[in-house]
Amino acid sequence: MKINLSNIKKAKKILDKNECIAIPTETVYGLAANAYSDLSCRKIFKLKRRPRNNPLIVHYYNFQDLKKDCIINNDFLKLYKKFCPGPLTFILNLAKKSKISKVATNKKMTLAVRFPKHPIMRNLLKKLKYPLAAPSANISSKLSAVTSQDVKEDFGKKIKYILDGGKSSIGVESTIIDIRGNPKILRLGGLEISKIKKVLNKKIVLNNNPKRISAPGQSMLHYSPGIPIRLNVKKVRKDEAYILIKDTKKNNQNYYYLSKNGNLKEAARKLYSTMRIIKNKKFKSIAVAKIPNKGIGKKIKDIWRRAAKF
Ligand code: TXA
Ligand code: MG
Repeated sequence: MKINLSNIKKAKKILDKNECIAIPTETVYGLAANAYSDLSCRKIFKLKRRPRNNPLIVHYYNFQDLKKDCIINNDFLKLYKKFCPGPLTFILNLAKKSKISKVATNKKMTLAVRFPKHPIMRNLLKKLKYPLAAPSANISSKLSAVTSQDVKEDFGKKIKYILDGGKSSIGVESTIIDIRGNPKILRLGGLEISKIKKVLNKKIVLNNNPKRISAPGQSMLHYSPGIPIRLNVKKVRKDEAYILIKDTKKNNQNYYYLSKNGNLKEAARKLYSTMRIIKNKKFKSIAVAKIPNKGIGKKIKDIWRRAAKF
């Protein structure tokens, strides 16, 4: 990845003025602003049309920076050493002296934090005097963005600047783990739970469909392309777009293959762009084939299940 330093400088200049920009990460693009500034964080909520009570996720360069704002523990350190920077978000308790904006947290005493791996994002974070609040760069409850073009499609001129970092290499959101007590997964994502389990060597509760949601971001409707989705489809209807994991060599023009040979990581990488293409072709609905319930396939399944709430 070639890093254009003058673009990063420009991004910093705009962020330093408490404005909002789009940034690339290895999971999905984010809508970023100074996490220490109420003014900046308010702009994110407005642009995304995000409910005010849905707290923002905050991105740090490294754990030295994080220590000022959050209380860390052993489980955090184990996972940090193994997987960070990378597609893992931690829920931690805020430190008493935390400078994080109360707009970002919606006055909660916890914070979602992540250390993104994308080299451009890391280069930017290193230059800033504050961490970046950055929820996914899409209109609330709609499809996530994995290229700068996707961000443009959603926000047009409303966004001051998009720092282009090419296509997101993982292509789905980070896995969220609440690590304050017994580890709980709040959102499936780019990092498989089995890998986390190996490191912590303890029971991990899957809590991504809680009866009482702790953040509105856990609500069922999510990742929606704005048209109905039918799940586990074997027989596609004539006017539907059909998404399959593996190339069946059927050259039906309504068929969209996420991978040549059923590779789930490749499928995840292509997922959001494929759904965007289908949406933009004005199909009235999407049918999706069954997907293996393993690895990152679980995340794809979860995205489709929520998107199908339409
Ligand atoms: O991969 C990612 O995590 C991307 C990139 C840009 O880093 N970001 C992302 O942000 O997906 P967002 O806002 O779309 O999803 C973050 C989720 C939301 O569902 C929000 O409700 C939840 O994190 N969240 C934020 N703060 C929380 C907290 N204190 N406790 C529980 N959940 C929280
Ligand atoms: Mg999101």
